[in-house]
Amino acid sequence: MRDGKEISAELLAWYDRHARVLPWRTSPEDHAKGLRTDPYRVWLSEVMLQQTTVAAVRSYFRTFTENWPTVGDLARAPDADVMAAWAGLGYYARARNLLKCARMVSTEMDGRFPQTAAALQALPGIGPYTAAAIASIAFDEPACVVDGNVERVISRLFALTDPLPGSRPHIAQLAARLTPAARPGEHAQAMMDLGATICTPRNPACVLCPLRSDCEGAALGIAAELPKKAPKKAKPTRYGFAYVMQSPDGAVLMERRPDKGLLGGTLGFPGSEWSQTPAPCPPYPADWHEAPLAVRHTFTHFHLVLTVYAARATAPDMMAADSFSANALPTVMRKVWEAALAAFDTIDGTDG
Ligand code: ADE
Repeated sequence: MRDGKEISAELLAWYDRHARVLPWRTSPEDHAKGLRTDPYRVWLSEVMLQQTTVAAVRSYFRTFTENWPTVGDLARAPDADVMAAWAGLGYYARARNLLKCARMVSTEMDGRFPQTAAALQALPGIGPYTAAAIASIAFDEPACVVDGNVERVISRLFALTDPLPGSRPHIAQLAARLTPAARPGEHAQAMMDLGATICTPRNPACVLCPLRSDCEGAALGIAAELPKKAPKKAKPTRYGFAYVMQSPDGAVLMERRPDKGLLGGTLGFPGSEWSQTPAPCPPYPADWHEAPLAVRHTFTHFHLVLTVYAARATAPDMMAADSFSANALPTVMRKVWEAALAAFDTIDGTDG
């Protein structure tokens, strides 16, 4: 295998030809002219991309940067607007930390992001990965960026057969050895692009890979089996009840969840706890109709099955029809709404 410098040079030459065009990215041509991506855009994209795919993030990134072109604009945005714009991306603690971070940068740092990974990590919602990504992409610090794509590329390149997550420290060490002093951010993004387009989880396109001749996993014929992963615990299933009350004029009974915990700070429908044995708990007495289909949704640590009830009735403090938007709800609550619509068809007699 060639040394780290040579491997990185090969990878960067590949990136110069094949870099994906992404709305938050400066092209290799522009980068060579000295242009750098606005750290605000790097930060926003990296926070959005945690646990989410590039395809899912594109439209959210566009909405955020159109609504709030600078970190100061985002800092001044009302919480509810930001939560609504985030709806559907999941992991809502990220959205709350996003706002906290924007406000800290805006008020305490004059709107300027710190330029080192170490300083960036002190900000809310910025862990080692995001700090390294911002520092290298926006500020050319040779910080080592390791995401899932990089883990896969490194595991295969060095034929690491120890399973994740135990192999992480070794992976980080090897990834750091490949990180160049010049163009570290483009090196990081080249690793990500390689992982996303060629060194894919299944059926890697090794014949197209610029690192094919260096890859020990490919030489051993085991690239596609790597990285090995320690067996995961099976996810438990939890159950719950959700209640959708809508008045004849379209107002909807909603509640905002507490800031802490799962879906914290998001808008949803009233309901029971989610557990093995939840108890029904309609928020008001009404003629509740069970929706024909239960809602199924999978969170990081459990599957959820919700029985949905709908009622055509009026209660205090409902959200007016013109303020309600199903698109501003977290995905699980959007599914509850869809299930309730089918029940309303029966209640209102619109389906015969
Ligand atoms: N995934 C996370 N950050 C990325 C980036 N900057 N480029 C491509 N994929 C990514």
